[in-house]
Amino acid sequence: MAETRTRRGNIPAETSSLVGRQAELDEIAVLIGRSPLVTLTGVAGVGKTRLAVRTADRLQDSFADGVWVVELSAEQNGDLIGHDIAAVLGLREQSVRSQSEVLAEFLADRRLLMVLDTCDHLVDACAALLRRVLPEAPHVRVLATSRQPLGLPGERVLPIEPLEVPGAGDTGADAVRLFTERAHALVPGLTLDPVAVAQVCGLLDGIPLAIELAARRLRALSVQQIAERLDDRFGLLVGGSRTPLGRHQTLRTAVGWSHELCAAEERLLWARLSVFDGWFDAEDARAVCADGRLTGLPLLKLVDRSILIAEGSRYRMLDTIRDYGREWLRRLGEEDALIRRHRDHGRSP
Ligand SMILES: Nc1ncnc2c1ncn2[C@@H]1O[C@H](COP(=O)(O)OP(=O)(O)OP(=O)(O)O)[C@@H](O)[C@H]1O
Ligand SMILES: [Mg+2]
Repeated sequence: MAETRTRRGNIPAETSSLVGRQAELDEIAVLIGRSPLVTLTGVAGVGKTRLAVRTADRLQDSFADGVWVVELSAEQNGDLIGHDIAAVLGLREQSVRSQSEVLAEFLADRRLLMVLDTCDHLVDACAALLRRVLPEAPHVRVLATSRQPLGLPGERVLPIEPLEVPGAGDTGADAVRLFTERAHALVPGLTLDPVAVAQVCGLLDGIPLAIELAARRLRALSVQQIAERLDDRFGLLVGGSRTPLGRHQTLRTAVGWSHELCAAEERLLWARLSVFDGWFDAEDARAVCADGRLTGLPLLKLVDRSILIAEGSRYRMLDTIRDYGREWLRRLGEEDALIRRHRDHGRSP
């Protein structure tokens, strides 16, 4: 027989200020009202988890059976997701029935919000479980975070963009506010050069994780020095807070987690595309990147994985993602050849 504890949720306390994101929070709440499954996607460290946790906190009163966060980053085995959820919900079952069956029965008449955090590496297993459970649980809502959608019918996907980056001399942008708040938490009263702060935030594409890691370097460096050293962003942005698996300890491990989840031809394409420094289309990509090793170009797969940004028929990468690809291209020994191909393509009529 299943039993539960009497807790009404397990939302982790937020230990730092949340900057901006009002529009996203409102939109997520609306989507949750409309769909049983909402997935926040976006590049490494863009703030998906932060938004999901804040949403759960905001919506506590709307769910009589609580709001529950199930963090999956340390789970290696897709077959165990049901157990992970059951453990968080305090559900104990001693029977031979499958975990999804037990969960479906338990959730059938519950009114709760479940945050499935970090589904990236278990997308198919999460989808299979939710496909089984959600149709039988009309009052359950799932808010998933993942660098790619789960691919379930009825899923509402909300891509989370980086924070607004400043134009020249603009000190009101959210990215600048985040850098400034983290800087002052570290060194109260520190005077910051606004031009250099804006430059750092722009170079870091407005990615909150990268901005937080950069602000930590203020212990030893000035903002100008940080800006100057950002052409080696992966060398500079190390030493963040610990999360399970240490994914957010450095910018390299955060982006590397996406890289590990890519198939071989997606990694190769990511590396080769790093020679474009702005928008390109599928024809450009084919002309520069295709060869016997890479025949079909998985551009849409890279969009799905939050590696490429698509707008109409054009694509581009954030600088952080491009730099990672460039490092990989160098390691593959292909950098010179690809730079040549890109240059020759630019010259072609
Ligand atoms: N709007 C924000 N205001 C303040 N801090 C933020 C904001 N968004 C994100 N952060 C901080 O940036 C870091 C990365 O955010 P978060 O963990 O939510 O990213 P993520 O998109 O879930 O990354 P991953 O894809 O690796 O799971 C965290 O330390 C988080 O607190
Ligand atoms: Mg996350």
